[in-house]
Amino acid sequence: MDWNAWHDQYDTVDSRLARRLHTVREQIRHALDEAPTGPLNVISLCAGDGRDILHVLADHPRRDDVRARLVELDPRNTAAASETARRAGLDRVEVVTGDASLVDRYQDLAPADLVLVCGVFGNITDADIERTIGACGGLCDTGGTVIWTRHRAAPDHVPLICDWFAGQDFELRWLSDPAVRQGVGVHRFTGTPRPLHAGTRMFEFVGYDVLRALRQNEPSGN
Ligand SMILES: C[S@@+](CC[C@H](N)C(=O)[O-])C[C@H]1O[C@@H](n2cnc3c(N)ncnc32)[C@H](O)[C@@H]1O
Repeated sequence: MDWNAWHDQYDTVDSRLARRLHTVREQIRHALDEAPTGPLNVISLCAGDGRDILHVLADHPRRDDVRARLVELDPRNTAAASETARRAGLDRVEVVTGDASLVDRYQDLAPADLVLVCGVFGNITDADIERTIGACGGLCDTGGTVIWTRHRAAPDHVPLICDWFAGQDFELRWLSDPAVRQGVGVHRFTGTPRPLHAGTRMFEFVGYDVLRALRQNEPSGN
């Protein structure tokens, strides 16, 4: 999978991904609008070229309160994100080229006010989705928000994801219409942040194409 070219789908007007991006940006804006006064920390896992958070921050009244860390593996995407941040004068945005699955990447920023897990849950196993949601209880501060995405192709895992968030003291704030294939969810953390243990890996980024092929090869069973 070319994860730089993947972003081109966003440029097709009214494509599923363009609509998902619009929704994610709306929800980011809303989370920032509602955030308490004072400094805000934002974390984005597998941030891509950062066009969700950076677009919103560029003209948001809270932009100078936000310290953000975007972690992304593909250096072409981080180069694009760094350039977008530079052009917007967002000098408190840090773009890291590296593996976003390690909690160590976030130790000094967590628990954060806003955690973005967009374009991740469709690319990792169910066990890793659950593990990542568990880690969100350490990445996210009390009252903080996690914005996540997951496609709704069968089997639709969005209800399961919501159950897993609920089991980790997150309350559902908003969920996209079930008829919309590219699901977006927003959860608020009501618990007490748990310590992040150095060296913990949340997921292995398998890729949706590989996961689909594995699923097709599974015995159907009765
Ligand atoms: C589906 S894209 C989503 C990008 C962005 N979050 C968005 O929603 O537009 C997934 C991204 O994860 C990146 N990625 C894959 N494995 C990663 C890893 N272990 N650590 C950090 N980024 C990773 C890919 O390079 C790709 O840019």
